[in-house]
Amino acid sequence: MCGISGIVGFENISKSLLNSIRNLEYRGYDSCGIAILEKGYIKIKKNIGYVDEVNEKEGLTNLTGRTGIAHTRWATHGGVTKKNAHPHISCKGDFAVVHNGIISNYHTLKEGLKKEGHKFLSETDTEVIAHLLEKYYSSTGDVEDAFRRSLNMLDGTYAIAMITIYEHEKIFCAKNESPLILGIGNDANYVGSDFNAFIDYTKNTVVLDDKEYAVISKEKYIIKDIRGERVNKEITMIGWDAEMAKKGGYPHYMLKEIYEQPQAITNAMNVDRKIIKEVASMIMDNKRTYLTGVGTTYYVSLLGEYYFSSLTGSHLTAVSSDEFRNLAEVADKTLVIAISQSGETYDTLNALKYARKNGAKTVAIVNVIGSSIARMVDIPIMQGSGPEICVISTKAAISQMIILLSIVLELGAMKKKITVKEKIRIEKELRRLPTVIQDILNEKSGFIHNIAHKYSRIKNWLYLGRGIYYPIALESALKMKEVAYIHAEGMPGGFLKHGTIALIDENLYTVGFIPPKEERDLYPLIIGGIEEVKARNGFVMGFHFGDKEKDYKLFDEEIILPKVDKVIAPFLQLILGQLFAYFTAISLKRNIDKPRSLAKSVTVA
Ligand code: F6R
Repeated sequence: MCGISGIVGFENISKSLLNSIRNLEYRGYDSCGIAILEKGYIKIKKNIGYVDEVNEKEGLTNLTGRTGIAHTRWATHGGVTKKNAHPHISCKGDFAVVHNGIISNYHTLKEGLKKEGHKFLSETDTEVIAHLLEKYYSSTGDVEDAFRRSLNMLDGTYAIAMITIYEHEKIFCAKNESPLILGIGNDANYVGSDFNAFIDYTKNTVVLDDKEYAVISKEKYIIKDIRGERVNKEITMIGWDAEMAKKGGYPHYMLKEIYEQPQAITNAMNVDRKIIKEVASMIMDNKRTYLTGVGTTYYVSLLGEYYFSSLTGSHLTAVSSDEFRNLAEVADKTLVIAISQSGETYDTLNALKYARKNGAKTVAIVNVIGSSIARMVDIPIMQGSGPEICVISTKAAISQMIILLSIVLELGAMKKKITVKEKIRIEKELRRLPTVIQDILNEKSGFIHNIAHKYSRIKNWLYLGRGIYYPIALESALKMKEVAYIHAEGMPGGFLKHGTIALIDENLYTVGFIPPKEERDLYPLIIGGIEEVKARNGFVMGFHFGDKEKDYKLFDEEIILPKVDKVIAPFLQLILGQLFAYFTAISLKRNIDKPRSLAKSVTVA
C-alpha cells in the first residue's frame, strides 16, 4: 500500500529520498514521485512504474535541494496514471502534498474549491489538500495555521507530508488512522509511513498518534494536536537494523523469510509466558472469544479455532476481520484476539475499533512495534519475527500460529483438558520444530523446485485437507494464488462430494494434505477423499508422511515428509505449500516479492 517519505537536511537529499522510497517498495505500489524545494520553487517528478524505472524515465535524482517529500502510490481514487501519482500541487505551485489513506469528503471539498476557482489536475482525493492549503494560506499568510485549518476540514483517514515555498526548511506532516512516524537523525530529520523509509539513516523514531501533526526541520521537530496544543513525545529506538531488512544473499525476500522460519518459531516460543498465561485466563474469564485477521491472518485464526477446539474444549470463533462487524456478537464479557503482521491492516483495525466500542477486551498478536494495532489493544503480544519484507506472509504467519498454540496449551492445562505431562511433551516437540524445518528446507528444496517446475503449466489446483489440515490447505492455496497467479482452491476433503467433485477429470490437479496415520480420525477421511478424486481420473499430488497401507498407487506425485509427532506435522505441510508456491512462481518468472496488485499492508477499506 502507499508509502510516504520526507527528508529535511543540511545537504542535497534527492538520492536519500529515492533510496527511502525504494525501501518502501515492499508495501506494493503502481506509481511514484518526489517533490523537492529547489532554489525556492517546488519541483515535482513522478510517473507510473517502479522506483528505478521512474527515476530512469524522469530523472528523480536530478533534482537538488535539502527539503523534499516522496511517495509510492497504490491506486484507490483515480486510475494508475502519471497525473494521479503523488506528489500533488496547488494551483500556484506553492504547496505540494503526499498522502496515504482516503479523504471521504473529498468530493464535496473538491466541488467547493472548484467553485472558488481552483483547478484540479488529477482524479485523486489527495489533491484537495493542496488546494485547501493554498486557500487558507491566502487568507492568513501563516503556513501552520493553514495546515491546521486544512486538516480540520478532512474526514476520513490520512497520513500527510507537505512542503511549501513559504517555509523552505520545513516539512509539515499529520496523521489520522494511517500510520506516520518521524525519524530523528544527526544530519537530517525524516518522516515516513513506516520505519523502512529511514531505517538506513536513523533508528530513533517518534510515533505520531491520530489527529496529531508535526513540523520538522533539519535540527528539530515540534508535535501538536489538531487544536494546536503542544504534545511531548518520547523517542523510541528501533531494534531492527537496515542489514536485517536486506536480502542477505537470497534471491528474494520470500525465500529468505521462508528460511528464517526456524528462528521466527524460536522467537515465538520465547514470548513472555506471563502474557501468554494472562491471555489464556482472559479466555477463561470471558463468555466468548473471537479470533480475527484477514487473508493469511484469517487462516491463522482458523487454525487457532481448530487447536482451541481440539485441545482446550473451548470453541473460539474465527471471523475474517473484513466481515467482523457483520458477524460478531460483541458485548460485555467478549474478548477479541486480532492477528496482524503489519499492525496496520484497515479491516483488522476496524474490527478492533468496533469491538472496543462495544465493550470487548482486546488482544493482538502483531509483528510491527509501535503499529496502530499494537498501540490500540489492551494486550499486545509482540511476535518478534523481525521485518517481513516480501508482500507474501510466511514467517510472520507461522510465528502467529505458534503463539496461538502456546495460548492453547496454557488454556488446555488450566481447564485440565490436557495433563501437565502432555503439555510438556507438546512443548518439547515444538522446540524441536525449528530443527525439523531446517532439515526439510535443506533436504527438500531442490526436489520441490523440480516438481514445481514440472507442474508449473497447471492452471487449476484443488488443495484438500481435513481438520487442522484444512486451514493449512487454504493458506497454501493463497500462497499459490498470490505469488504464482495460479488458481488454487483450498477445501475440506469432506466438502468435495457436495458439489466440486463435478469438476474432477484428468485436467483437474489436486494436492492432498495427508496427516500422519496417528491422526486416526483424520487420516482415513482424507484418504477417502483422495480415492474419490482418483476414481474420476483426477491427478493427485500427496504431501504425506510416508504412511502407506495400500499396495496400489494412490498418488501420481508425492513429497514425503519425515515422521514427526502429530502436533508439529501440520507446520511441515505448510512449509511444503510455501515452497511449492515459491518455486512455481520462479518457473513462471513472477515478480516474487511484489506480486501484481498486492500490497504489504492494506490500509484502506
Ligand atoms: C498473504 C498476506 C495477506 C495478509 C493480510 C493481513 O500472504 O500477506 O493476506 O496476511 O493482508 O495483513 P496483516 O497481517 O499485516 O494484518
